[in-house]
Amino acid sequence: MPEWPAEKLQLACFPDVPDHVSLPWDSADEYLLREADTTIPTATLILNDRHGALYCALPGAATWSDSFCARQAAQNNARANDLRPPDFLNYGDFSSLTNIRQVLIQIPKQKDQLADQLRLVATHCPDANVFLAGMAKHIPISLLNWLEVNADEYTQPRIVKKARLLNIRGLTKFASMERSLRGYTVDGLTLNGLPGVFSRDHLDPGAEVFRQYFPDLHGKVICDLGCGNGILAISLAKASTGCTIIATDDSELATLATKANAKLNDLVTNDLVTNNSKTNNSKIDVRHGNALSAVTEKLDYVFCNPPFHDGNKQLTNIALNMFSDAHKQLKGDGVLLVVANRHLPYTTALKKLFRRVRLISDDKRFNVYYCTK
Ligand SMILES: C[S@@+](CC[C@H](N)C(=O)[O-])C[C@H]1O[C@@H](n2cnc3c(N)ncnc32)[C@H](O)[C@@H]1O
Repeated sequence: MPEWPAEKLQLACFPDVPDHVSLPWDSADEYLLREADTTIPTATLILNDRHGALYCALPGAATWSDSFCARQAAQNNARANDLRPPDFLNYGDFSSLTNIRQVLIQIPKQKDQLADQLRLVATHCPDANVFLAGMAKHIPISLLNWLEVNADEYTQPRIVKKARLLNIRGLTKFASMERSLRGYTVDGLTLNGLPGVFSRDHLDPGAEVFRQYFPDLHGKVICDLGCGNGILAISLAKASTGCTIIATDDSELATLATKANAKLNDLVTNDLVTNNSKTNNSKIDVRHGNALSAVTEKLDYVFCNPPFHDGNKQLTNIALNMFSDAHKQLKGDGVLLVVANRHLPYTTALKKLFRRVRLISDDKRFNVYYCTK
């Protein structure tokens, strides 16, 4: 387990990645801890802590991360350093925060995601001193300008070890920003999502191709692995009868979007009592987890439009982990269907796991693989 010299903590990524690929802290974490008041952990709120490095430096802080893997990393790292494990807040439910005096934010990838988070911070901790940081190359000037225009006080110290830090106070304008729920409609289905949910305002071209290859399914146990806004699970539910469709994603916002979209499209979900008129309909069961960690059922089908980015890095390890979990969780005659950009090198990995891997699409950009054990 690598030691973070700045804080003398033993930290690991979850899932584990080699040290040369990624470390569980970065110089933006160090910059945040250098500028923030580290004597008030229980009056601190941390957002988007990728592997729990900030939490372990400020144990007892309130914390929220969208990613299940980030939460698992924080829990593992807190235990490894004999610290109290974090209790994660649920998104949008920050009402339990009463005495927060400072907020530490690892800047998310999209500006509208940050805007939504600042709206929540401004609503629940309006007087907090807010520190934001990230690697300078990922922070556009337009974002700095937007923060400067909207915050009452704005300080931008110099870049340190390629990390950019910003300090803002006075968040009234962020509190009045509109909740940015966006969506689209396709074939009579309506799909919405908060910022951060994959392809929330347009149908992903991979998903569009994938939907053309869905088989007719009845009474099967199916999983939409990496469900995003639920487009695949909801399309499958509408086209099938009597199926249980487990939709799972690493992102809490994606699971919230899938649940809301299933209801919006008049489908039965796990937290809704089935009424008689709908008993023959397929039902959607939404879960937060890493690959298939939240799924114990044996599956007839897994449908997967896998991610090939982790934060700002392009990686195939998450997809490969999904394929291997799918192989374990499928019944003997179960099927994995995958859609992927043609340039992605999945054929070899799939052939190592599955006895038969067929290409069933003739699309120029996307392969659809049909894999049987
Ligand atoms: C390419 S998107 C597909 C979303 C949706 N199924 C669609 O077709 O539009 C991949 C999804 O995988 C999710 N994801 C990323 N890492 C994951 C992991 N380790 N376990 C489960 N889901 C993950 C992302 O949050 C994202 O929603």
